Amino acid sequence: MQALLGIDIGTSGCKALLIGTDGAVIAADTATYPLAQPRPGWTEQDPELWIEGARKAVAGALAKAPGVDILCVGLSGQMHGLTPLDAGHRVLRPAILWNDQRNSAECEALAKAAGGSEGLLAATNNRMLVGYTGGKILWMRNHEPELFARMTLMLNPKDYLRLRLTGEVASEVSDASGTGLFDVRRRQWAKGLIETAGIDPALLPPVFESQEVTGRISAKGAALFGLPEGVPVAGGGGDSVIQTIGSGVIAPGELQTTIGTAGILAAALDVPQDNPDGKLQVFCNVAPDKWHCMGVSLNAGGAMGWFRDTLCADVSFDQLVAEAAESPAGARGLLFLPYLNGERCPHPDPLARGAFVGLTARHQRGDMTRALMEGVVHAFIDMHALMQPMGIAGRVVKASGGGARSALWRQIQADMFGCDVVTTEGAAEGAAFGAALVAGVAAGVWPDATTAARSCRDLTCDVPDPAASVVYARAHQIYRSLYPVLSDRFAALGDAIFDQ
Ligand code: XUL
Repeated sequence: MQALLGIDIGTSGCKALLIGTDGAVIAADTATYPLAQPRPGWTEQDPELWIEGARKAVAGALAKAPGVDILCVGLSGQMHGLTPLDAGHRVLRPAILWNDQRNSAECEALAKAAGGSEGLLAATNNRMLVGYTGGKILWMRNHEPELFARMTLMLNPKDYLRLRLTGEVASEVSDASGTGLFDVRRRQWAKGLIETAGIDPALLPPVFESQEVTGRISAKGAALFGLPEGVPVAGGGGDSVIQTIGSGVIAPGELQTTIGTAGILAAALDVPQDNPDGKLQVFCNVAPDKWHCMGVSLNAGGAMGWFRDTLCADVSFDQLVAEAAESPAGARGLLFLPYLNGERCPHPDPLARGAFVGLTARHQRGDMTRALMEGVVHAFIDMHALMQPMGIAGRVVKASGGGARSALWRQIQADMFGCDVVTTEGAAEGAAFGAALVAGVAAGVWPDATTAARSCRDLTCDVPDPAASVVYARAHQIYRSLYPVLSDRFAALGDAIFDQ
């Protein structure tokens, strides 16, 4: 049986997924690995963990589908990570990951070098967020000069896996966008910015389109991963970008929501729309004629996890959601601001804080859980409002991530967006499914990414309830008005006097 293999290097584990040429899932396997937090705000991973995870996950998936003939491999992975390599392609230090917070000074320096945020937006169409790779390169230069002097190449996580699979040095446009050093409009490195920041362009890999073949499994790669030598490896994509095609989101009118630890609202663009205040992330998409727009809220499923672990650790999520379903739309006039770890979009504010607003003695735990779930979706609606001037309007929402398994959370989305909320077979498999689809485009199974995206089968469809939509429209007006009046109080509450 002919198959396509998607491999996703996630933050908590690696997933390998085999799909058929009809887009149906054949087999999958996951191998987990830990995340190191050597200091507060630092997140690192030994790249060897990714390789070991990929070896195990690929072996596990192949064991469940003996005799498959793999046409092409597609790669995806956590974005923005810095894997520093020396001239012999040896890893110099643990990779610094997307959620690492150490380099705000370097991000400011990069923005300054670009001539302020206007200059940065002109060069890349994005801000230099603390997570992005560009600031990490400067951090190594400033803080680990000896290692930096030995660094001859930096790769994002999935591109390090590519190196070990094929021996080739290559990246592709979606992950390159997440370095903050890429001219997203022209789909090439932002040479002027790289030069003014004093970064040696040789540190950066050549960039391909996601659906281009970047190399073939080498003899060494074949021995290491148990894959046949010579199988082509496609560019693939950064996880948050490539998972949209895996949900079937590729055309105007289609939105994807992801409720994982973070919440992501994403859409495909036909043109590289300007990102005026840089609040959204506008990246190259995995189709050569498409771009990708997303807003990332740092607190979605993570807020739910915090609520349960902190206030009712003995209660299951199912029980909490059942209680929330007993509360009416609008949670009896209770609102929740989900900014528990600061926020990225729509409020780029590390000092933002969470809040329940409107508590009364009448409110039960179910109302609080419901308000929290609604707050996560209110944050999506805020991002949607930022996207509307770009011509992005949802006619259908494709829900993904762990939160999409909750019928109540899907219904809240349908009611707030006022359109159908659909889950697809591929979305349940995450970024590895998108990677397998892109491998299929590279192998000629599908003529283009749009056709590949159409192979995603729908699993569920929740339709909006007009009465609930009216309640939510009113609640959203109040929700939106809260951050502007509370933001300076949030900052004041961060004062050291409260932290003794
Ligand atoms: C995207 C982002 C995350 C990482 C980790 O900008 O920061 O989605 O890709 O999955």
